[in-house]
Amino acid sequence: MLNRIKSLIEDAENFSANSLQELEEFRIKHLSKKGSLAQLFEDFKDVSNDKKKEVGQALNELKQAIQLKIDAYKEELSGGETSSTNVDLTMPGESITIGSRHPISIVRGEILEIFSRLGFTVSEGPEIEDDWHVFTSLNFPPEHPARDMQDTFFIEKNPDILLRTHTSSIQVRVMEHTKPPIRTVSPGRVFRNEAISARAHCIFHQVEGLYIDENVSFADLKQTLLYFAKEMFGEATQIRLRPSYFPFTEPSAEMDVSCALCGGKGCNVCKYTGWLEVLGCGMVDPAVLENNNIDSKKYTGFAFGMGIERLAMLKFQIRDLRLYFENDVRFLKQFSGSL
Ligand code: PHE
Repeated sequence: MLNRIKSLIEDAENFSANSLQELEEFRIKHLSKKGSLAQLFEDFKDVSNDKKKEVGQALNELKQAIQLKIDAYKEELSGGETSSTNVDLTMPGESITIGSRHPISIVRGEILEIFSRLGFTVSEGPEIEDDWHVFTSLNFPPEHPARDMQDTFFIEKNPDILLRTHTSSIQVRVMEHTKPPIRTVSPGRVFRNEAISARAHCIFHQVEGLYIDENVSFADLKQTLLYFAKEMFGEATQIRLRPSYFPFTEPSAEMDVSCALCGGKGCNVCKYTGWLEVLGCGMVDPAVLENNNIDSKKYTGFAFGMGIERLAMLKFQIRDLRLYFENDVRFLKQFSGSL
């Protein structure tokens, strides 16, 4: 019996399988109810007591050798099966869609970059502001219509707290802790209580600029804005300043740029005027400088402010403001090639 077991161990150790089918046959031959092991265990009953130990050990050795083979081939053969039949290496991979920058981000980046070339730093501030930084320090008389509930989102329990309606509030914060010369641009999100339409939204973005130093003149303002307009809309761009009013600047102006689409001849984008309104500007009112502890006898300054949505509309010919906030990828992906 011992010899039979030994030769079976040898057989098991020399066994090799080329398929799961062959392995299954091997398992049945040895481990099934009528297999070699079952038969040997049956015969084991008749082994004399003095041989039981030796034969028993040999039997266990055989059982282990068989099991080891089965386990090893099972892994090898079924592993082989997955890689040869379940995975098609010629299939195209899953593509990852590359996102694109939002047109507002693109245009904001472009504006900041142009002004950085003129030495302007970038400053930011809180969206939730107080009356002083948005209105009072900027020379808004108490009865000014911009303070009206129509335009401003106030916090009900404390009307001193409000959502900023322009990023001029950032510039007040800069004046508070910086001594002139000051040269800064302030980008940010602003809020106004307006009905949402193709041309107006209650949330939009601005970049405002402030320049304060000795002997800053209106000519400096004009030249700075002309440079900006040419960089933004092309070398052939011309600017036009029209008198306007803002509480914090005196004199104040609105700036138009010549329509890049028709070259100033007139088209439906510029409503046949040849000009497009792009920003408000002016010389900082001395009262604003004094409110912020800057000596208005020594220093003068200019300021300007523009809406990023409006500039992006002109640059990319976007006709509806609401598109910026809907995040429809069909709209957004059109700008992936820009900048
Ligand atoms: N703060 C003004 C606005 O929000 C824009 C502006 C800034 C005008 C600076 C003049 C000077 O409309």
